[in-house]
Amino acid sequence: MHIMDNLREQIKGLINDLYGVDDVTVDFASVPSEIEGDYSTNVAMRLARQVGKNPRQIAQEIIDGLADSGFGFTIAGPGFINVSVSGKALKAQLDEAWSDNYGNNNSGEGKLAISEFPSTNIAKPYSVGHLRPGTQGWAAKKVLEANGWKVITDNHLGDVGTPFGIWATGFKRSGIAFDDVAIYDLGNIYIQMKADLKEEEKAGKHALADEVQDWLLKLEAKDEEAVKLSEHFKDISMKHTHEVMNRLGISTDLEMGESCFVERGKQAVAEYLEKGLFEKNEDGSVICRLDEYGIDVPMLMQKSNGAALYATTDLGCMLYRAENLHPDKIVYAVGAEQKFYFEQLFAMAKKIGLNIDNYHLWFGTIDQISPEGKREKMSSRKGVVLMEELLNDAEKRVRENFGAELSDDDIKKIAVGAIKYSDFIADRKTGILYDPDKIFALTGQSGPFCQYADVRLRRILEKNADFACVDFADYDWEAEKNVLQILLRFPEVVANAAENFEMHKIAGFAFELAQELNRYYEKTPISSAPDMERSARLELIRKADYVLARALDLLGIEIPAQM
Ligand code: ARG
Repeated sequence: MHIMDNLREQIKGLINDLYGVDDVTVDFASVPSEIEGDYSTNVAMRLARQVGKNPRQIAQEIIDGLADSGFGFTIAGPGFINVSVSGKALKAQLDEAWSDNYGNNNSGEGKLAISEFPSTNIAKPYSVGHLRPGTQGWAAKKVLEANGWKVITDNHLGDVGTPFGIWATGFKRSGIAFDDVAIYDLGNIYIQMKADLKEEEKAGKHALADEVQDWLLKLEAKDEEAVKLSEHFKDISMKHTHEVMNRLGISTDLEMGESCFVERGKQAVAEYLEKGLFEKNEDGSVICRLDEYGIDVPMLMQKSNGAALYATTDLGCMLYRAENLHPDKIVYAVGAEQKFYFEQLFAMAKKIGLNIDNYHLWFGTIDQISPEGKREKMSSRKGVVLMEELLNDAEKRVRENFGAELSDDDIKKIAVGAIKYSDFIADRKTGILYDPDKIFALTGQSGPFCQYADVRLRRILEKNADFACVDFADYDWEAEKNVLQILLRFPEVVANAAENFEMHKIAGFAFELAQELNRYYEKTPISSAPDMERSARLELIRKADYVLARALDLLGIEIPAQM
């Protein structure tokens, strides 16, 4: 229990004894540093009318009753009670709460979650459109694990349908040799072919579309060339996906794309049709009505020609997971554009009786400032911004900003840390602005700022590695109070983060701690302090290093060796 929760209980008990009031709210606000005390409560003012006394008098009576609590009190203004906590009490509190995995808790023990990310589409190279699904989905995994959950991660690849036919047709026409074809060729072929198919359709022709279908039929019939091409394309695409994920520091346990669930999905559609939960339209398409869940747009479950849809494979996937993995919760890290789709999907899941806590972890777009000064969705002259381009650019900026003597490994950690941190800086429900001048800066709220604070802590620890610590039981911890107060909040930050995946609160916490630490070691001598102070302060630095690195780790951000 936090030290202030303790005091809150004491005050509540006292108020009950003194005035017979047992339902008063006791809140503590932090007070600005120029005011005496660390926290302040307005409880005396709240009680005034009910008790029929002047608030300052009530405040005095409460304080008198707390003489042995170990806290210091003063009355301010109309009746605020300002509370001072001693550094020693805060340190004792931290010691009591401290463990090898401080911040973790076991609220999710015995429960299993699936975190689904980044769920890229194999036909196209990895673009920034799948950055947030990756970073947010990864953080969801970390946060759930920190709260005791077991987590299985799954890359729900978009690998179903026509991409193969489009690739094969375009590849054959491109003249590129089998062994030379690379991911960006496939991406270009796909984009060009999509445009050509559109043109063709407009012109009322279908030669190209027929060719695409031919390849798909050939693949179904296990034609040797079709199988060989399909495997080759998939290998190229997955190798690329893995390379990018590796650079982003994310990975998944499973890679079960949409194509794994076509059969199961179609089977389920037939089953629920029979049971009367789904309905067939005049044209043969199948829908699921969701009015009873407050959604008046039915979900289209299967096309009129019997072909599987996105919803069909998601249905199959959910059933597969329910039958084989038995998750309590599934977290889908997918952008806000699909919000309505997931509302429908989750309502449909309820309708068919699936008992899973489905959670759409949604977020806004990545924006940029256009040359005209307007905020817009991030794009390049070619359309999408490729993830590799963004990462290369980030590494280049880091090299320029932080000096070329950094190791490649550190440059990568800083570049990725900067990009990821910018994803978590604000409530995920808003768009994020990719502003390179801020993201890669060592000042202001940025990833590198937080990383650098920790690098400095580690440098201090290294510098003092040979120092033999002495007993510091008599140390007063007064200079460390602010840092201690922040460290004490960490378990609550971790617990809250699992509720609604508000990673920005972890990011905010890391920043606040980093900022306070900067203030601390600027004014507090450590290596040059007398032995007792030095020993005590090193102990604090070790704990702060653990907490700061752990907070950043929950966001998937690593600490470089040097900066
Ligand atoms: N591949 C999809 C996309 O990029 C995301 C898949 C999300 N997951 C799901 N189960 N539908 O838009």
